[in-house]
Amino acid sequence: MRYDRQWSFHNPVKVTFGPGITSALAAPASCERGAYFTSPGFTERGLTDKLAALFSGCNLDIIDDVRPNPGITDVEAYRARLQGRGIQFVVGVGGGSVLDTAKALSYLLSIEDPGFSLRTHFNDKESLPDNRPLPLIAVPTTAGTGSEVTPFATIWDMAEKKKHSLARPDLFPAAALLDPELTLTLPREITVTTALDVLSHALESVWNHNANPVTIGLAARAIDIFLSTLPCLLDDPQNLDYRSKMLTASLFGGLAISSTRTALAHSISYPVTAVLGAPHGLACGFTLPALLEFNLQGDQEGHLEATASMAGCGSAGALAEKIRAVFKEAGVGELMARYEMTKQNILKLAPEMFTPERAGNNMRAPDLQDLERILSASSL
Ligand SMILES: [Fe+2]
Repeated sequence: MRYDRQWSFHNPVKVTFGPGITSALAAPASCERGAYFTSPGFTERGLTDKLAALFSGCNLDIIDDVRPNPGITDVEAYRARLQGRGIQFVVGVGGGSVLDTAKALSYLLSIEDPGFSLRTHFNDKESLPDNRPLPLIAVPTTAGTGSEVTPFATIWDMAEKKKHSLARPDLFPAAALLDPELTLTLPREITVTTALDVLSHALESVWNHNANPVTIGLAARAIDIFLSTLPCLLDDPQNLDYRSKMLTASLFGGLAISSTRTALAHSISYPVTAVLGAPHGLACGFTLPALLEFNLQGDQEGHLEATASMAGCGSAGALAEKIRAVFKEAGVGELMARYEMTKQNILKLAPEMFTPERAGNNMRAPDLQDLERILSASSL
């Protein structure tokens, strides 16, 4: 791997990590009214009231019906509900869907023009008004998304089976609070699929035209933690140290893609999620070993070999084998069967899998035949 290249890395999110750290939740200075986004499950477990109580002396509008894979209609409805209520800051407590929703609203609530439509922006590629997003506090409750440290949010158009990305250089959250205690009760399937998202972010940032020594260092550490921790965590899901390691790996993966963005595995994932309903991490994780082998052929600068070595695997080939072994142990094949990710179902989606802004980041450009080979090698 060569280091004599020009590169830059910027991430302005103030990250605080630690068991119980969410007890430090508070409104930003001089803010009196906020919008608090979370999922119904979080409220059912009594955690919404507990965390909302920390914002003493502050008025909170609590939105606890955020659904997985938020749609344009959902975020526009939240905007209509909250507009004019004097919201000064936004809090998101949840997985990737909640954080992306909160992030989208931190921007949309800064726009007073009632004529602005997010749908028109996405459909007509209309430019975004130059409004500064409201301060956002992001609290991930899964170890996978990395959204707490990125400047983009995934928003779906489910009617069109299409995924959009709301992205702005100033869309980073102001603060991220990472409390591994919040991940202790995650069920096995979510633990596995979100961990697959961690690995996807790490690898996607390496086989990426925008990779640099900082992102590769972060990615290698995330891969190392994923490989050594996931099997132990599945055997002992209440282990706070394992949960802390996976949340740290998730942070590292998020930091890496905050600079590089994602690549082909994510591009492949969108129709798999939209059509088959596969969870995001599973949809972008199942192709990783085959994609690693594909990209190895175009890795002029030796990024993958360097990453494998830093992750303690010796060679990129050995890394692919190790990933396959961990997938087997984690039951990835069984999960794929649950979402009917058969060769036939997956290959049908191949023509929809080239999202230019994602696939274009990939270090080796695939044609449709390459893609079909990767998919055939990866699906059931
Ligand atoms: Fe992802």
